[in-house]
This record gives sequence, structure tokens and C-alpha cells, in this order.
Amino acid sequence: MAVVYALEPDLGVDDYVAVLAETIMRNKRPLANRQRIARMLAGAEPIVTARENGEILGLARCISDGAWVCYCAELAVKESAQGRGIGRGLLAKCYEIIGPGQSLILMSEPSATGFYEGAGMERHPDAFFHMRSDRS
Ligand SMILES: CC(C)(COP(=O)(O)OP(=O)(O)OC[C@H]1O[C@@H](n2cnc3c(N)ncnc32)[C@H](O)[C@@H]1OP(=O)(O)O)[C@@H](O)C(=O)NCCC(=O)NCCS
Repeated sequence: MAVVYALEPDLGVDDYVAVLAETIMRNKRPLANRQRIARMLAGAEPIVTARENGEILGLARCISDGAWVCYCAELAVKESAQGRGIGRGLLAKCYEIIGPGQSLILMSEPSATGFYEGAGMERHPDAFFHMRSDRS
């Protein structure tokens, strides 16, 4: 069965948790706080998913201004589905959706930097962020 990549603006909390819980990011997102996850999903656009036979295998949750820049908050593929080109496929779908006018920006997990380098993304030495203090 082919993997289907699609925009899912109304992605549910259960599907988001199902993916993130099966990655090394499981302790880096507030998966036990369903209300906060619901707000994270409601405030994100575009959200891209990869499904096979209806089962969610991966997702990219992004925040875009629709014209200049798109921030990818999570690119995640279930451990059981990694290594099948799905991460690369999600990235390609994001590029297709945002078009040529928007940069895609993200913060990599240390273990995933090789994935982004292999995908041709540019490492930026001058990126900065202010870390949240409430992680609940
Ligand atoms: C990083 C991640 C999204 C990659 O998804 P994936 O579906 O396993 O990757 P793909 O199968 O599309 O791999 C595409 C290429 O990248 C390579 N690759 C995949 N993960 C890699 C990694 N962590 N480091 C270096 N290369 C990697 C693959 O070998 C493949 O190379 P090839 O084209 O030469 O065969 C996935 O491993 C994941 O969800 N990891 C946990 C969460 C995470 O770290 N997300 C990124 C931070 S937001």
C-alpha cells in the first residue's frame, strides 16, 4: 500500500500523540497534556501527515505566515516506519505546500542533523531562540 501525504488541518490529539510517542521526541513534547497538544495543533498550519492504510506514520507540524517563512515545529516518523523515505516525503510535501516564496526553518534533534544535511538543508550558525520555562 502506498504512503499518502496530505494536508490535515484538523489532525487530532490521538494521532499526534501516536506518532510522537514512538520517537525520541516523546519526552520533549507535553504528550500527557492533551489540552496543550490540542492548542498546539489548533495554532499550527500547515500540518502534513503520512498515512498508510489510514494509519498515521509520520507528520510535520508547521507554522507559516503564508508568504515568507514557515517554521517546522516537528518532523516525526514512527520508529516502526523510519528508514522508508517517509521523512524525506514529508519534507517534499511541505516544500510543495509552502511554494518557492517561503523558507522552511526548523530546529533539529542532535541525532537528526545528518538527515537534514542529506536533504540539502542549510545549517545556520546564527539562529537564536528564547526557551519556554513552562514545559507542562
Ligand atoms: C529524522 C526522521 C524524521 C527521518 O525520517 P525517516 O523517514 O526515517 O527518514 P527517511 O527514510 O526519509 O531518510 C531519508 C535519508 O536520510 C537518512 N537519514 C534518516 N535519518 C537520519 C539520521 N538521523 N541521520 C542521518 N541520516 C538519516 C536516510 O538514511 C536516508 O538516506 P538515503 O536517501 O541516502 O537513503 C525520523 O528518523 C524521526 O522522526 N526521528 C525522530 C524525531 C526527530 O529527530 N525529528 C527531527 C527533529 S524535528
